[in-house]
Amino acid sequence: MPLPIAVLVSGNGSNLQSIIDRIEAGALDVEIKLVISNKADAYGLERARSHGIPTRVLLHTEYDSREAFDTDMVRAIRDSGVDESGVVVMAGFMRIVTHVFLGVFENRVINIHPALLPSFPGVYGQGDAADYGVKISGCTVHFVDEQMDHGPVIIQAAVPCLPGEGGGGLSPRILKMEHRVLPQALQWLVDGRLEIDGRFVRLKPADKAVSQQPLADIEPETYALIWPPLEEGF
Ligand code: GRF
Repeated sequence: MPLPIAVLVSGNGSNLQSIIDRIEAGALDVEIKLVISNKADAYGLERARSHGIPTRVLLHTEYDSREAFDTDMVRAIRDSGVDESGVVVMAGFMRIVTHVFLGVFENRVINIHPALLPSFPGVYGQGDAADYGVKISGCTVHFVDEQMDHGPVIIQAAVPCLPGEGGGGLSPRILKMEHRVLPQALQWLVDGRLEIDGRFVRLKPADKAVSQQPLADIEPETYALIWPPLEEGF
């Protein structure tokens, strides 16, 4: 039985799409019961509808407090058929959630952030990294806690920052990696393979033999652990 999950979006929803695509490819063993957006015009809602996934719009501007907003999100998610054994994915959801939310879905909420945390948290991780002049940035999937872009790290992908490209050039290349690591992290969580110990997340071995994904299908300038490449002697 696929695990019931909810996905929270605020915008384009390409990370939501990456989850839908992996489900349809048979790689990801979840069923999206509900997509919630805090923006009525989020394109992510369209993506969900076109795949027959129920949607809700909850406008945070109509609430007096974060806690009140989170109470309604919890209710909507429960009503959709996702309980505390399910998972909630923040896929481009530009809100901090409170103890009201995290107390229900304890260690069951994950977020994708477009930078190598703890560097460049916040709403524009790609631009902040580019403006700082770092040579490598990337993306991080992490468990969510009450601080912004802060909880224990599950997986990170490093992406080179090319000369003069700025955040606008870097963003789409980071996004390509987001679409790979977010579904992977989700499946690990679904399979019960993630063990949290303080800030550390241990990936437990799979029950059955799994082969690793060759990275040969990713262009060298899109993905790098060390960039620029080290020269001879170093
Ligand atoms: C992604 O870069 C995500 O990491 C960030 O906002 C962007 C949203 O992309 N928080 P999308 O809505 O999933 O297309």
